[in-house]
Amino acid sequence: MASSSGPKADSIVGGRYKLVREIGCGSFGDVYLAIDLTSHKEVAVKLELQNARQPRLVHEKELYNILQGGVGIPQIRWSGQEADSNVLVMDLLGPSLEDLFNFCSRKFSMKTVLMLADQMISRLEYVHTHNLIHRDIKPENFLMGAGHQWKQLFLIDFGLAKKYRDPGTGQHIPYRKGKRLTGTPLYASICAHRGQQSRRDDMESLGYVLMYFNRASLPWQGLQAATMKETLDKISDMKITTSVDVLCDGFPIQFAMYLKHCRALSFEEAPDYTYLRRLFRLLFRTLNYQYDYAFDWVVLKQKAEQQAASSSGQGQQAQPAASPGNQSEKTKSEAKDYKA
Ligand SMILES: Nc1ncnc2c1ncn2[C@@H]1O[C@H](COP(=O)(O)OP(=O)(O)O)[C@@H](O)[C@H]1O
Ligand SMILES: [Mg+2]
Repeated sequence: MASSSGPKADSIVGGRYKLVREIGCGSFGDVYLAIDLTSHKEVAVKLELQNARQPRLVHEKELYNILQGGVGIPQIRWSGQEADSNVLVMDLLGPSLEDLFNFCSRKFSMKTVLMLADQMISRLEYVHTHNLIHRDIKPENFLMGAGHQWKQLFLIDFGLAKKYRDPGTGQHIPYRKGKRLTGTPLYASICAHRGQQSRRDDMESLGYVLMYFNRASLPWQGLQAATMKETLDKISDMKITTSVDVLCDGFPIQFAMYLKHCRALSFEEAPDYTYLRRLFRLLFRTLNYQYDYAFDWVVLKQKAEQQAASSSGQGQQAQPAASPGNQSEKTKSEAKDYKA
């Protein structure tokens, strides 16, 4: 946080959560690893100064309430105020997909991308079913679970999320042109650059995230101009002029099919989640992959552990290499374990 006020390491928030150290610093606040002094379990605490220019944490908590109980949605333990800050206490999760992409030298295998895509589509479908759109789909906002949940992908950060239809009547929000971009320019859909977002924009962003994993970068990455507006215009122009076929050139056709489906959706139209999941599932089968959750980072870590065991002369007795899940009771945040 920009100000020096607000809870810091060693402070206790909500009467029972002791902040240990910062594990994430986002655009709106800080995230701490904390210990629940009652259960002795680790949790994550998101903090935001109450006088922040655009407070979002209370809104985020309300949206988490709507989503509680869903697969891949972190559980909220407590929320309230403490020393000038809004506080949200939730389950501690593992590393983000951006952390893991870096851990894997910014290269994911097709198998890893497809296993992730399957869970990512389902997370967005769940959020959309609950009348919400996320509006900031990016690798930093997808976290793998910690401990026994190591196979599961979580979607976090609902600070920019919004209701796109009335839960009672089903009435969709109207389209509005010329809104300022909400979200992260690198992954924003073409339409998000121009106006009000809806379900199609979350799905298109997800398509860019998948191509980012495939290609290691996107064509409009790193563009600069004199002003923020000009930079955004440049990014938007390049998205428009780069055809889906060029963007996805050299990769299985299913990625282009995914993006074409999303870009063809009208503002209020529901994406065909089943069709999109099936595209990638069929490709997965065609490529003869096993759905065994052997993500690249799991394999990499196993190899490193096997090497360490054999070089210390314990190769014969070595236990099967630990999956991230086997470290559940270790006290360090797994996010840090995976930082290269
Ligand atoms: N529950 C959690 N467990 C572990 N790390 C987390 C958790 N929530 C957030 N983080 C870390 O903090 C970062 C910022 O959190 P996020 O909710 O995305 O805030 P912002 O709105 O500032 O982007 C995340 O990218 C992630 O690295
Ligand atoms: Mg975030």
